[in-house]
Amino acid sequence: MENELMSIKNNAVSLILDARSEKELEELKLQFLGKNGTLTMALKELTKIPIEKRPEVGKLANEVKQIIEEAIENSSANFKTKKIEKIKKIDVTEPGIRPPLGHLHPVTQAIEEIISIFERIGFTRVRYPEIEWDFYAFEALNFPENHPARDDWETFFIEQQPDPKKGPVLLTPHTSSGQIREMEKGKLPIKMLNIAKTYRRQSDVSHTPMFHQFETLVIDKAENISITHLKGVLDYFVKSYFGPDRVSRIRPYHFQFTEPSFETDVSCGVCDGKGCKLCKEGWLELGGAGMVHPNVITNCGLNPEKYAGFASGWGVERVLTMKEGIEIDDIRLLYSNKLEFLEQF
Ligand code: PHE
Repeated sequence: MENELMSIKNNAVSLILDARSEKELEELKLQFLGKNGTLTMALKELTKIPIEKRPEVGKLANEVKQIIEEAIENSSANFKTKKIEKIKKIDVTEPGIRPPLGHLHPVTQAIEEIISIFERIGFTRVRYPEIEWDFYAFEALNFPENHPARDDWETFFIEQQPDPKKGPVLLTPHTSSGQIREMEKGKLPIKMLNIAKTYRRQSDVSHTPMFHQFETLVIDKAENISITHLKGVLDYFVKSYFGPDRVSRIRPYHFQFTEPSFETDVSCGVCDGKGCKLCKEGWLELGGAGMVHPNVITNCGLNPEKYAGFASGWGVERVLTMKEGIEIDDIRLLYSNKLEFLEQF
């Protein structure tokens, strides 16, 4: 009987050590300790041995049972820690999850293209504040206080104590405020490209309350500057940005800060300047331009007899939507954060 118990123990322990899964351990548990298990059956035989030998053999049988139970428990605990280790292991050769790739906003793309065009002809990109004093946005640009021409700029004012010299604080409604800030620096000649956010109280299919303008300003000795330079810059921009087949024109207009003043147009890319539903008469409006007004030059501490210049202010969103092949029927879409829309660019 003792021999039989010992061989059951040895057999069980070696099988338990060889087991490869929790399931196999469960099966071994049944095989040895279950209702009809090998050890259970052997214990039933205890009744058949002489009564005086029973306590000794019974003790051995209990020990064997304990050893088998412990072996099963140890192996099972081993499997559990191995499982955790398996989860922790990272296979560095496994293909990764590709993160979705974004791109620059179409307005940023347009700004970058505009900068690179103007840089080729010697302009330097600058930035001036979006929150501005009345002095820079109007007063120094030859808009007297309460002048009706100010109404066209539909300005947002900020509730803040006006500066005794520079007046109320506002969100700049155009990049022309940068003309004053640039001239104030006193470094001549000037070839400035000011691109900034501008604000007006407007919102419809072709207007957003926040939009971007790009402003050129050239100031040099009066004898070096004429309207032809303005026209040349306009043409260079139109051909570089819209394509070699597009042409530009200037027509008379009024601005307080330029004299003479112009509206600048580019031929329609849809009908080639013949006239269509989009442009009506063959031309699309780009924005304003003109020769810097002598009063503005004086306001910036320069002598208008000696210095002259030209300036232009055009809309970034506007030139973007006027580009061939781009059809945006509502400019507000640009700022709607709709990915289906933005992903097209
Ligand atoms: N600032 C003008 C506007 O916002 C455009 C402009 C700029 C006109 C420079 C003339 C010269 O409409």
